Amino acid sequence: MRIAIIGGSGVYDPGILSNIREERVDTPYGTAVLKVGTYQGEEIGFMPRHGEKHTVPPHRVNYRANIWALKMLKVERVLATAAVGSTNPGYRPGDFVIVNDFLDFTKTRTYTFFEGGEMGVVHTDFTTPYCPELRRLLVETAAGLGIKAHDGGVYACTEGPRFETPAEIRMIRQLGGDLVGMTNVPEVILAHEVGLCYGLIAMVTNMAAGISATPLSHAEVLEIMDQNGKNLRDLIMQTIPR
Ligand code: HPA
Repeated sequence: MRIAIIGGSGVYDPGILSNIREERVDTPYGTAVLKVGTYQGEEIGFMPRHGEKHTVPPHRVNYRANIWALKMLKVERVLATAAVGSTNPGYRPGDFVIVNDFLDFTKTRTYTFFEGGEMGVVHTDFTTPYCPELRRLLVETAAGLGIKAHDGGVYACTEGPRFETPAEIRMIRQLGGDLVGMTNVPEVILAHEVGLCYGLIAMVTNMAAGISATPLSHAEVLEIMDQNGKNLRDLIMQTIPR
C-alpha cells in the first residue's frame, strides 16, 4: 500500500474507495484500525484519527500505533486532514492551508519512536517537517480545481480538548502560529521520524478564540467541515494519482 489518508474531524468516511475492508494491525504500541479500499486500481488506506464515531479525543489518540501500522503496511505517502482555528486574518473559515511548519504547545504526549534500547537514540532533522513534494502537489491540485488553498502556514498544536483562551491565541500569533489545532503533534513528528512523506491539508473552521465574535463549538467545526467536504474529497482524490 503506497498511500494512506488520515481523516481528522469531520472526515470519517473513506468516501470513494471501493471494495472496502477493515484491517486491524498489531504494533508494538497497540492495535491500529484502518479501512483499506481501492481507488483507480490502487489500494489506499483510510484511518479516521478520532475513530469512526469520533470517540477518541486528541490527547488519547494512539499516534504511535497509527503511524507504525502505516509503516508496517509499507505506506510511503500520507495525506492527512485537520480542522483548525485561524489566528491569521488572512486565513478565513472555509480556506484550506497546506501546512509547512509547526509549533508545539502540547503537554502529555509521547513524541518519539526513539526511546533508546532497540530503537536507539536518534535526533531527526526537522528542517522540512512536511513533505515538500506532497505540499507542492496539493497546492497545484487545489489550484487546478479552483479551490482556495494557502501555500504554507504554521500549525500550532495545543493540548486540548478544550479550546484556547484569548491570551493563548495572542501568544501563538506573536510566536508565528497561523493555525491552531490539537492533533498534528505528535502525528507529524512520528511520521517524519520513520521517513513517511506526510502532507497536511488544514481546513479553517473558525477564527480562533478572542478573534471569533462568538464562543467556539465543536458543532461549528463540524458544520464548516461538512460544507467543504466535497472540496476536501476532490482535493485528496485528485492528488492521489499524481
Ligand atoms: N482550536 C483548536 N483546535 C481547533 C480549533 C481551534 O480554534 N478549531 C478546530 N480545531
